[in-house]
Amino acid sequence: MYTAQDEQRLYQQAKTLLSADSSNLEETIQQLREVINYADWKYYVQSEPVLADFEYDTLFKKLTHLEGQYPEHVSADSPTQRVAKGLSERFPTVSHLVPMLSLDNTYNADDLLDWDRKCKEFAGTENIEYCVEPKYDGASISLIYENGTLVRGATRGDGVMGEEITTNIRQIRSIPLSAAFAKSNVNQIEIRGEVVIHKDVFAEYNAQRAAEGLAPLANPRNAASGTLRILDPKEVSKRKLSAILYHISYYTSDGTPDMLHTHYDSLNWLYQLGFPTPVKEMKRFNNINDVINYCAEFEQHRDDLAYEVDGLVIKVNSFDMQDKMGMTSHHPRWAVAYKFKARQATSKLLRVEFQVGRTGSVTPVAKIEPVPIGGVTVSSISLFNEDVVREKDLHIGDTVLVERAGDVIPYIVKPLSELRNGTEEDIVFPTHCPICNEALEKPEEEAVWRCINISCPAQVVERIIHFASKDAMDIRNMGDANVRKFYELGLLKNIPGIYTINWEEVAKLGGFGSKSITNLQTAIDNSKQQPLNRVIYGLGIRHVGETMAKTLANAVDHIRDLYDYTEEMLLALEDVGPKVAATVMHFFHTPENRHMIDLLEQAGVNLTNQKKAAPASGELAGKTFLFTGTLSRFKRSDAEALVEEKGGSILGGVSSKLNYLVVGEDAGSKLEKAKKLGTVAILTEEEFMSLAGLNG
Ligand code: IVH
Repeated sequence: MYTAQDEQRLYQQAKTLLSADSSNLEETIQQLREVINYADWKYYVQSEPVLADFEYDTLFKKLTHLEGQYPEHVSADSPTQRVAKGLSERFPTVSHLVPMLSLDNTYNADDLLDWDRKCKEFAGTENIEYCVEPKYDGASISLIYENGTLVRGATRGDGVMGEEITTNIRQIRSIPLSAAFAKSNVNQIEIRGEVVIHKDVFAEYNAQRAAEGLAPLANPRNAASGTLRILDPKEVSKRKLSAILYHISYYTSDGTPDMLHTHYDSLNWLYQLGFPTPVKEMKRFNNINDVINYCAEFEQHRDDLAYEVDGLVIKVNSFDMQDKMGMTSHHPRWAVAYKFKARQATSKLLRVEFQVGRTGSVTPVAKIEPVPIGGVTVSSISLFNEDVVREKDLHIGDTVLVERAGDVIPYIVKPLSELRNGTEEDIVFPTHCPICNEALEKPEEEAVWRCINISCPAQVVERIIHFASKDAMDIRNMGDANVRKFYELGLLKNIPGIYTINWEEVAKLGGFGSKSITNLQTAIDNSKQQPLNRVIYGLGIRHVGETMAKTLANAVDHIRDLYDYTEEMLLALEDVGPKVAATVMHFFHTPENRHMIDLLEQAGVNLTNQKKAAPASGELAGKTFLFTGTLSRFKRSDAEALVEEKGGSILGGVSSKLNYLVVGEDAGSKLEKAKKLGTVAILTEEEFMSLAGLNG
């Protein structure tokens, strides 16, 4: 953990490193590591990023570059070592220092009361303090640190032997590569925890897969454990795994450190050392009834957490008591899981319908007998593509096991083939589009069948819906139903048509009052000011998700600049591969699409990159500033914000890149250095104000 002072120092250090190198190589490398570790902690553990992405990347590249030049300075705990060097062939098997036991399960208050009674018996006392924390639904891992450095990461495996996945573990940014265990005289330590994928990261990843015509991963748990076993660590890194550590299973130390007497203190200690532990979620109770009440209450809010939880874990807080109670061959006696209600149910597969998406993909959708799962009635489940149907060996009439994990869309886990009675029927895939009857095609490398008629009404409607959707142009009140209705009535034919809807005709339809029309008009009008990345995303170019749309928007001043982008130019952009480059080129060279862009422009839709265009016109455009000494006219942070607002940027130190040094009272070494350099304009606060156009 960092003190407020550390944080200030490291933040300043980051800014300084961004503008100038120290002359001492070793010191620069050390400082870069320190700053990157700090930025990782803010970003991954605290969820409060302190550096802009490009600043972080700059520092990271700087460190990689220096370590490349001076390999003798590379150490195992350098942040660059998270980045994979090569491909491993397979994962070696390793034995755990202490067997990784499982947990006994409880499902209700009675089970917990029973467990409490047994605890009291084994502990030989009526006074037990319990610690309660979430049960994370991911993949369990073991981490070993020796003399402060992460030396091994492993999967649970069979509990005795696991797979050694250290390189992949290093890709998880919230796991420190080193920590100050030595301060507490701890030499070797094994920490256990769970690797999870945040629900929003999981959803984004699946959306990306869907855009590529791949079947989504079933749930975050499978995604996490699958990702840990990917052989290419670069791919692991891209998947943005998180970790939560909840147990110290072994350590060697000189004496027993103070923090290692209770579970609660031990997790707080780890947190202080920079580890992601559930300090915020962890609660202590002195009797089982309070635990039971807490469990019931927590279950109501299980979906509020960023990742999946499938229950709570209740642990005896005192380590001495834990030792006294011991364990069975399967689980410790001092801990138990309280499992939430299952989100699985069985139902009958009634029929399969085929839906045409905006890219023409034809998706099989299972219609099942409606069944409640976790408070929602499920009747319709996407089966994604033919391969999924074949792999799962699904048949019409099958009894199927359905799961709905939290916010995750429901999916069919498997058919219960043992319940078949011989009347089940094959699922037959259409050869022609169910909407426009065009023959379907299946590109060799893809799993989905497509309708290639770009005027297919189903596709047109879906494209309009996508353009208006929340993550694209965010036209509130438009909704799927209105788009479909307007389209069917001929009031809306294509995307630009949104901006020329004949409202008199709409008013004549039943169900639209003047208020709802005004609301819709306002929402449509407002959407004209959406930033360019939303427009690009809204156009629904294949393989261009939200992130890619931002990359494209940031690269240009106006959307038409993309007409001139060659394949090489596109490939030079971050994360753009040949597939994206090809579809982007194709999209912007298609005359119909260019015509659509013209129509959007005529309608007054913003097609410029305002972020990039705006600063160029500010009074301080392209100029670099640094403030030093005590300012009397404004707070330093306000002054810096003002510079950025007006198109300038702030540097962290005096260098040849600096244009202006603004000096307050008691300015020290920076002023001296600027004077020596002779290239920096030195301003008083008043001079700065007039430069920024604030006087008069
Ligand atoms: S403690 C020796 N705490 O649940 C006791 N386990 O179903 C070690 N799990 O194997 C386990 N959240 O992978 C513990 N807060 C938590 C947990 C947790 C999830 C996993 C763990 C365990 C499994 C048992």
